[in-house]
Amino acid sequence: MIVCESIADIRQQLAACRSQKIALVPTMGNLHAGHLALVKRAQQLAQKVVVSIFVNPLQFNEASDFENYPRSFEQDQQQLAELGVDILYAPTESSLYPNGQQTNCKVAVPELGDILEGECRPGHFTGVTTIVNKLFNIVQPDTAIFGEKDFQQLMLIRRMVADLNMPIEIVSAPTCRESNGLAMSSRNNRLSAQQRQQASALYQQLQVISEQLQQGRQDYPRIQHEAMQALQAQGFEPEYVAIRHPDTLDMLQVGDERAVILLAARLAGVRLIDNLHLCLAYKTLQ
Ligand code: PAF
Repeated sequence: MIVCESIADIRQQLAACRSQKIALVPTMGNLHAGHLALVKRAQQLAQKVVVSIFVNPLQFNEASDFENYPRSFEQDQQQLAELGVDILYAPTESSLYPNGQQTNCKVAVPELGDILEGECRPGHFTGVTTIVNKLFNIVQPDTAIFGEKDFQQLMLIRRMVADLNMPIEIVSAPTCRESNGLAMSSRNNRLSAQQRQQASALYQQLQVISEQLQQGRQDYPRIQHEAMQALQAQGFEPEYVAIRHPDTLDMLQVGDERAVILLAARLAGVRLIDNLHLCLAYKTLQ
C-alpha cells in the first residue's frame, strides 16, 4: 500500500491509474468494521481504492470534540494494508488549509444542511462538504463510498455532487452494528463497556418507533416526544428524534410510504447518532 501525504504525491500516484476505475473512501480514521465494509464495497466497484484519513478540524463545532476524537493511525494503516487498499491518503492539515480554515473558501448546502444535525452542530456540514469537495478535487475518483449511518451527511454529499455537476458516483453502504444493535462509530471508543451496552437503547428506540409506524400510528410529533422522554429516562441527553421523509428530510406526511427515523443523543457526554430507514407499506429496509 502506498501512503501519500502531499497533494502532489497522490496526484502523481493516481496519474498512472487513470485508465482504471478509482474509488475513494473518505474517513477520519480510527477504523472499525463499518469503515472496512466501505473499503470492501469500494473494492467490488473499482480497480484502484484510495482511503483517506483526515480528522477535519473544520467540521468540529466543539474544540474538545476535535481534541478527543480517537486517533489510531498505525493500527488503521495496518488494517488497510491487510485489506489490500492501493493508496492511503493521509494529508497534513497545512496542505489542505494552507491559509488556515477560517479564510478557506467554503461549500455549503443551504436548507438541507441547516436542519437536524446542521441545527445542533452549526457549521458542521459546511466543514464536511468543504473537505469532501477538496478530497474529490484532489483524488478525482469515479466513485466514492459513504456509510448510511450518517444519513443526512450522505444526502448532502449527493446534493453537492448533483448541484455542482461533479462526475462522481456516490454509493452508500448499510450501517454496521455491534451484536447489541449499537451503530458502529469511532465515538463508541469513548464509552465504557457498560455504556456501550446502555447505548444500544438508541437502536431499540428506533425499532420501537418503527413498530409504531408499521402498526399505523400517525401522530408523529407525539411519537417523537415520547421517544425523547424514553431516552431521557434511560440516562441519555437526547437532542432530537425526527420522523422524516427519506428523500427530502421534510416532516413525514400521513400517507407517505417510506420514512427515516433519525436521532441524536449524548451518553456520558459522547454524542451518538443513528437512523432507521423503513418502508411503511412493507418492512424495514435496513
Ligand atoms: O463521515 C466522516 O467520517 C467524515 O464526515 C468525512 C466524510 C470523512 C469528512 O471528513
